Amino acid sequence: MANDLEFAGVVKRFGDFTAVRDLNLTIRAGEFFSFLGPSGCGKTTILRMVSGFIDPTEGDIRLGGKSLKGVGPNRRPTALIFQNLALFPLMTVAENIAFGLSVRGVPRADQAAVVRRMLDLIALPGLADRRIDELSGGQKQRVAIARALAVEPQVLLLDEPLSALDLKLRQHMRSELRAIQRRTGVTFIYITHDQGEALAMSDRVAVMSQGKMEQVGPSAAIYDHPMTAFVASFVGENNAIRGRVVDRRGDEAAVDTAFGRFTGRNPHGLHPGAEALIFVRPEKLKLNRDLPNRLTAKVTGRVFEGTSVDLHLDHPGGRPITVRLPNDDSLIDAAEGQALTAAFATDAATILPPGELARD
Ligand SMILES: Nc1ncnc2c1ncn2[C@@H]1O[C@H](COP(=O)(O)OP(=O)(O)OP(=O)(O)O)[C@@H](O)[C@H]1O
Ligand SMILES: [Mg+2]
Repeated sequence: MANDLEFAGVVKRFGDFTAVRDLNLTIRAGEFFSFLGPSGCGKTTILRMVSGFIDPTEGDIRLGGKSLKGVGPNRRPTALIFQNLALFPLMTVAENIAFGLSVRGVPRADQAAVVRRMLDLIALPGLADRRIDELSGGQKQRVAIARALAVEPQVLLLDEPLSALDLKLRQHMRSELRAIQRRTGVTFIYITHDQGEALAMSDRVAVMSQGKMEQVGPSAAIYDHPMTAFVASFVGENNAIRGRVVDRRGDEAAVDTAFGRFTGRNPHGLHPGAEALIFVRPEKLKLNRDLPNRLTAKVTGRVFEGTSVDLHLDHPGGRPITVRLPNDDSLIDAAEGQALTAAFATDAATILPPGELARD
């Protein structure tokens, strides 16, 4: 495709520290793509290489098949929105949006037309003459997007742009950003350590850990079919139970654990004898005893979450098992110290090789 962004064997080292390891990836033109990972995993470093502020130590970044090597930041068809937005507080909304255009010597009349178009796009038509320091957080956010899009970049890079907003506004801005991306068709590359944000907005998500891309795919695939212990534990909540594979059948396997024998999906085709972690999400643990895998343990805690209630079950040698029950008529009154049996389907569990788990 014409404007695909391609990373070919990209490595970034700072001295003897490797911040990005052998990144091979094609981000399609017009895609909403997110890099998701904990602090320090290399997300900003990737964006800085795309925007041209730093160069890869090895490998190449290509846009539309052409290498970006030697192309300076201001000559790249990319725009970057920082976490702190970097708007000019004493200038008006219109002046901020037109800033990049006047730097490029675009005539005033044309600037005004672009500003009008951008104000419509971000749904703030009446605010052209307001000063930035008179806007709400969400309005500033939208102006930053308009300013970046005004210069018609092919790729818009967004570095945690919502992190300064409160939760409600952040959730609202997710759908707003997604809608703006759809309307413009510009490639958005979004980086965040917030998995809810990445899953909700993106066509595809790349999960990063310590400079390495662990997995890339559509949100649902990342959530339902994690391929590493890190992805399983970082994206959404998950229970991890240690065990050993005792049987393998088709795409499934059986694992012996401290709670008994469980069956689950076996995407790596682990063989009997292999050490493994079996992952089951809290919402997949049910009180329905007809399911094939049953886990009985003492209730050690109960947390009311509003739409759901989390029960914590004792897990010797591991983190407590969380069972998430919907807050409806079926809600049971499990007291602490009481034994509870939760059950799960074979296809609700994923058996993976042991590996680093994400920290809470
Ligand atoms: N100029 C630099 N010199 C040396 N080390 C650097 C430099 N820039 C980044 N690093 C290191 O590279 C690693 C990745 O940094 P990066 O800023 O890409 O992380 P991040 O994923 O964006 O984290 P955060 O979520 O905290 O913003 C970090 O360990 C950081 O300390
Ligand atoms: Mg960063």
